[in-house]
Amino acid sequence: MMSHLWMLIILCSLPYGLSVRKNCHTLWKQLESCISGKDIEIQPIQRRSIVFSVTRTTDIGLSPLQTLVFDKVYLNEGGGYNAHTGLFTAPVNGIYYFAVSFLANGGSTHLLLLKNNHEIARGYGKDQNDTGSVVSTVHLKKGDIIRVAEITGEGREGIRGDGWSSFNGFKLN
Ligand SMILES: *[C@@H]1O[C@H](CO)[C@@H](O)[C@H](O)[C@H]1NC(C)=O
Repeated sequence: MMSHLWMLIILCSLPYGLSVRKNCHTLWKQLESCISGKDIEIQPIQRRSIVFSVTRTTDIGLSPLQTLVFDKVYLNEGGGYNAHTGLFTAPVNGIYYFAVSFLANGGSTHLLLLKNNHEIARGYGKDQNDTGSVVSTVHLKKGDIIRVAEITGEGREGIRGDGWSSFNGFKLN
């Protein structure tokens, strides 16, 4: 019985050249657990995607630090984005990437990307129908909040809806 096992181990290991010892060891461990009845069910590591893609359906004027809510959700895997509040809450620790693209409406528009109410990036659209963007890669802890908001109150700031303005984010793996 044992000699057959060794034969199997050696034969299975042959094609692996230099990694023979490592493969042997792995195979031996598997056989061991098989023989002892402690066979472990090996499950693939489940990596849950965290990614969202949202746009704004209607034009909106913004007051200082008002959160820009993107109400049309195309994708929200992991459930981090809330389309009612406009807040993204990190479901797990990690490094995340965010990108906002917007069309200024009414005049020049200044937007911020905020992490727990602290600015991490800003963007600007000069005139009506100008495109601005805000992009950032940031380390988040579970529960940290990311949102898009207006910077200053010049009174004429806003963005175009109808899909002209979008917010995307995902966790890097
Ligand atoms: C911006 O685009 C709209 C059409 O979507 C147009 O009616 C408006 O005149 C444009 N504004 C400027 C300043 O070009």
